[in-house]
Amino acid sequence: MAAPIKAALGRTAFVTGGAQGIGRAIATRLARDGYDISIAEIPQAKDRLANTIKEIESYGRKAIGVFADVREAKQVYAAVEETVDRLGPTLFVSVANAGVTQVKPLLECTPEFIENEVRLNLLGLMNTHIAAAKQMVKQGFGGRILGAGSIASYRTAENLGPYGATKFAVRGFTEAAAKEWAQYDIRVNAYGPGIVDTPMWDHIDRELAKIEGISIGEAKALRIKRDVKLGRIQQPEDVAKLVSFLVSDEGEYITGQTIKTCGGASL
Ligand SMILES: NC(=O)c1ccc[n+]([C@@H]2O[C@H](COP(=O)([O-])OP(=O)(O)OC[C@H]3O[C@@H](n4cnc5c(N)ncnc54)[C@H](O)[C@@H]3O)[C@@H](O)[C@H]2O)c1
Repeated sequence: MAAPIKAALGRTAFVTGGAQGIGRAIATRLARDGYDISIAEIPQAKDRLANTIKEIESYGRKAIGVFADVREAKQVYAAVEETVDRLGPTLFVSVANAGVTQVKPLLECTPEFIENEVRLNLLGLMNTHIAAAKQMVKQGFGGRILGAGSIASYRTAENLGPYGATKFAVRGFTEAAAKEWAQYDIRVNAYGPGIVDTPMWDHIDRELAKIEGISIGEAKALRIKRDVKLGRIQQPEDVAKLVSFLVSDEGEYITGQTIKTCGGASL
C-alpha cells in the first residue's frame, strides 16, 4: 500500500541519482512525507528525471532537478547551492544515493575501472555529505544525512571487489561523520539494501551471466532463491521505508549506522 500523502513540512530533501530505482523511490516517498525535493542527476537521465518530478508535483510538493555528476566535487557543491537558491535555506535531508556496480574479476580490473567506482560510490558520497552538512550547519537547525551502503558494506562478493570496498568505506565514513556532526544536531546513517529490483541489478545479472557462463536472469534468480529469506526480490519502496523512518522524529536517536534492509539476504 502506498504511503499517505502528508502536509507540507516546509523542508527540503536533496537526493542524488533520484531519477530511477532506489533514488526515485526515496525521492517520491519523502515527497509523500511532506518534503520539497531536489534531485541531482546526470544529463543522460533527463527524461526519467522529468517524469519523477512530475510524480512529486502531483503530491502537491515542489520538485526541482539539478544536473550534477557526483564524480565531480565542484558539481556536487553547485547542486546543493542551486537547491538552496531555488527552494530556500530549508535543507533538512540529504541522500547520497547515486552509485554504480561494476562487475569484473579483480585480475581484469584496470586502474580506470577502479577509479570510476571509487569516484562515484565513495568520493561522490563524501562530497555530497560534506556539501550538505556545511549548508545544514549554516542554517542552524540540524538535519538528516543518508548514504547508500549495501549488504556489501558487511560482506563482499566475488567479481564485485571494488564495489564492496567502496561500500565498506561508506560504513566507515558514516561513523566518522556521525561523530563529528552530532554537535550540530545532524544524524548520519546509511541504508544497506540486498537484491533490489532496479536497472542496476539487471546490469549485474547480465555481467555475472557472462562470467559464470549462464543465461540472462539465472544469476539473479539463483541469489533470490538461495539468499533472500523473505522469499521475494526487494522493491525500491522497501528501501524508501527505512529512509522515511530514519529522517522522521522516530529515528532521531539513531546515528552512525549502516542499517541492512535486505529480507535476510545477508544472514
Ligand atoms: N539495486 C540494488 O540491489 C542495490 C543494493 C544495495 C545497494 N544499492 C545502492 O543503491 C544506490 C542506488 O541503486 P539503484 O539500484 O537504484 O541504481 P540504478 O543504477 O538503478 O540508479 C542509479 C541512478 O544514479 C544515477 N547516476 C549514475 N551515475 C551518476 C553520477 N555520476 N552522478 C549522479 N547521478 C548518477 C543514474 O542516472 C540513476 O538514475 C546505489 O548507490 C547502489 O550501490 C543498490
